[in-house]
Amino acid sequence: MDHTEAFALYEKEALEAIAAAADSNQLEAVRVDFLGKKKGRLKDLQSLVGKVSAEERPVVGKLFNEVKLRVSATLDSRKSGLDKPKTALTSLDVTLPGAPIAFGKRHPLSQTIEDFKDIIGRFGFTVADGPEIEDEYHNFNALNIPNEHPARDPLDNFYLATAAYGINAGDSGARLLRSQTSTVQIRVMEQTRPPIRIVSLGRVYRPDTIDATHSCMFHQMEGLMVGEGVTMAQLKTVLKLFAQTYLGEDVTIRFRPSFFPFTEPSVEVDMSWRDTWLEIGGAGMVDPNVLRAVGYDPDEVSGFAFGLGIERFCMRRHNITDIRRFYENDVRFLAQF
Ligand code: PHE
Repeated sequence: MDHTEAFALYEKEALEAIAAAADSNQLEAVRVDFLGKKKGRLKDLQSLVGKVSAEERPVVGKLFNEVKLRVSATLDSRKSGLDKPKTALTSLDVTLPGAPIAFGKRHPLSQTIEDFKDIIGRFGFTVADGPEIEDEYHNFNALNIPNEHPARDPLDNFYLATAAYGINAGDSGARLLRSQTSTVQIRVMEQTRPPIRIVSLGRVYRPDTIDATHSCMFHQMEGLMVGEGVTMAQLKTVLKLFAQTYLGEDVTIRFRPSFFPFTEPSVEVDMSWRDTWLEIGGAGMVDPNVLRAVGYDPDEVSGFAFGLGIERFCMRRHNITDIRRFYENDVRFLAQF
């Protein structure tokens, strides 16, 4: 038998023995037998290399090494197979905890909403909720927005096909996606008596042209405080403390005179942070007509209301320059928060 045949036979028998080993003890015996340094099959084989001529020796030596490497690699992989715990389906424990991998994160806007609730809650405001599909009474009439008001224009609102809705007395039957969370002011006041201190956070819809700062859907935080002797100074304090808690001490709040049908006086609220002014929403003292619409007596109670854009705060805090990023569901963006 020349060395080529001897190498081939050695390799064949070694691989067979490795495959046949039933456990790691048997495999270890195979290793000693075929790869042991002191004696055994490998030693015999190596002596063959010594017997060939000087010219042949490098070639045969190389062959010897290759065979040895293949056998020891096969043995190693069989060994790690035997060492592994059995993963056959019969031994799968479905009660074990899942892999410790972060599969997802809360959306930055959801995080902001949670932060807002937390901060404003410290001023005693509780969270109220209202429907996103509204009737005209709650979106307009009760908010002192009369029938002929341009804000009700179908081109500026998402009205729904009305056939699907039952028409109650005094209800035109028209439904729309709410254009503001101020609707919840009415819904809360209809249900409760003063004192009131609530916020409502959620989606509003407007057919705006979509660009870096406008979206046809965005989020607002509505605030309402009604009671005896509620003043505009309190409104300003609440907004200032709120913004400072969210962004940091260096926030300034500025009021500019404005108009909303449901507040009088009305203001636009600007916030300065890191030397830039940003409009963050509208606010004002609840209009006496609104208080009357829900059966309150404007001579007994007063109130303030505000509506803040949630995206704006979140964009400002995280330096996000395009509102559309929030709604694209690109994990590369979302994973950064
Ligand atoms: N609802 C107004 C808007 O969406 C904001 C606002 C809320 C103004 C409460 C005054 C009081 O623009």
